[in-house]
Amino acid sequence: MRYLITSALPYINGIKHLGNLVGSMLPGDVYARFLRQMGHEVLYICGTDEHGTPAEIAAQEANKPVQVYCDEMYQVQKEIYEQFGIGFDYFGRSSSPTNHKLTIELFQNLEQRGFIEEKSIQQFYSSSDGRFLPDRYVMGTCPYCDYPKARGDQCDGCGKLLDPQELKNPYSSLSGSGDLELRDSKHLFLLLNKMEGPLKEWIDQQKDWPAMTKGIAYKWLKEGLKSRCITRDLSWGIPVPKEGYEGKVFYVWFDAPIAYISITKDAVGENYKDWWSCSADTYYVQFMAKDNVPFHAIFFPAMLLASGMDFRLVDYLKSMSWLNYDGGKFSTSQKRGVFLDQALRLFPADYWRYYLMANIPETDDADFTFAHFADVVNKDLAGGLGNFVNRVATLVKKYSPHGLVAEYLPELLKQDVLRLLDDYTQSIYALKFRHAMEALRGLWKLGNSYIAEKEPWKLVNANPQECVSVLSHCVYLIYVYAVTMYPVMPESSNQLLKALNLDLDCVQQVGQNFENLLSSLPIPVWALQPEGLLFDKISADVISQLMQDFSGTQN
Ligand code: 2FM
Ligand code: ZN
Repeated sequence: MRYLITSALPYINGIKHLGNLVGSMLPGDVYARFLRQMGHEVLYICGTDEHGTPAEIAAQEANKPVQVYCDEMYQVQKEIYEQFGIGFDYFGRSSSPTNHKLTIELFQNLEQRGFIEEKSIQQFYSSSDGRFLPDRYVMGTCPYCDYPKARGDQCDGCGKLLDPQELKNPYSSLSGSGDLELRDSKHLFLLLNKMEGPLKEWIDQQKDWPAMTKGIAYKWLKEGLKSRCITRDLSWGIPVPKEGYEGKVFYVWFDAPIAYISITKDAVGENYKDWWSCSADTYYVQFMAKDNVPFHAIFFPAMLLASGMDFRLVDYLKSMSWLNYDGGKFSTSQKRGVFLDQALRLFPADYWRYYLMANIPETDDADFTFAHFADVVNKDLAGGLGNFVNRVATLVKKYSPHGLVAEYLPELLKQDVLRLLDDYTQSIYALKFRHAMEALRGLWKLGNSYIAEKEPWKLVNANPQECVSVLSHCVYLIYVYAVTMYPVMPESSNQLLKALNLDLDCVQQVGQNFENLLSSLPIPVWALQPEGLLFDKISADVISQLMQDFSGTQN
């Protein structure tokens, strides 16, 4: 099977936080690594979402021309994801020439096919700011739930999409000024309403999608699809190729999803249609946080279907809820939470990767606290996995320093391992990550119970043959751990393989399932050279220091 995977393209406007990572890129990476292990062909695509007001404003704040700001921040973000071990096949940019070209082409097709309408709309002009205010820079009270800080495009209180004119007591979020005046401006609208029938039919077919994804899609369909403005009075973006539209660009949410396609083209060249055509033999999976679902389940599919351009729709849309920060929200604009550069300075990437995957907000919101993070690292990584590896390494060094003849696992243990391997495999295929992490922990527990039950340190005198046999099984388990943890903790997996003197490639050559691991010995004589502890415990002092450092707003 060939898998096309995309993660929501992160906005260019600054370094992302842990919530962004677990909401799209990290699960996408775990899934991609796993599929490659199982022998599938995978293309994992992502990139920066560079247009729109967030980019303009961030550049202004950084006192740089937008282009310069985007060039720099693209590099910064790209490197950070690399340091987190996110193995995109290609990390591109929505501002690329390819995306300019494809966006215009798609727009022209929509126009020719009667899906675009021109309307004159009234927009807020702020005299204090000397500019038209993009929707999200008009703030005010939500007309539906009275949330006092609703943005003009969407209310964070109730999640409804809004038009800025609907807000009560509107003001500019740039200057805070309430001196706003509605002025006429000509814009283009995508006639989403015309696509309601085909969209509903398509969503109805998605029987196995997560409940959260379908819930959001149906909520939209139930409310009735309205035409949506796809142009903006901005200078940064993809210029609208139409007379009378000078000084206007496409709405960022129009060109951003198209970038999934154009980044693929930047990645693989003219053959990109092998991945994107409706007839291509690919399974297309998208990862995103739930606020992105309307755009990916309704808006983008509508654009693609209406364009008639033979681009395939998503096959599986995996959406994530929120990872909250200490009971509140992570926020890029308010600099609240743990940002990815900070995270990497604090602990190795694998600590974060495991913690986040074990607590991924798959069905409900999850809450990040440093205390919880330390608890999970100490219990599962240092305690469960790390402790087992260290114990075994110490015993091997003591009782069988020249290596151990590799032996197959005894039948009972093997059955338990097989059950968990199957559970792990099925869970990742089904994109049920929390469950998958439970299976992984289950495997680690098996090792600890086995060694506790067999007590090789007692066997060494009574039955030395049995002692080395038990240790050989334990090392076998470590090999199984190294291979199975690879999608989640690639760096630590490599470390273990090195300690086992095994070729790093062996994680890639698993074959069609992990069960193979139990039916062929990778090496005739096991070696295990411990190179220090795999995971360090996080002490109470460190936690309280972190809690202090990260309380309130970070600068
Ligand atoms: O929410 C976000 O971070 C958006 N930049 C996601 C865009 S996804 C895709 F359409 F580009
Ligand atoms: Zn509201």
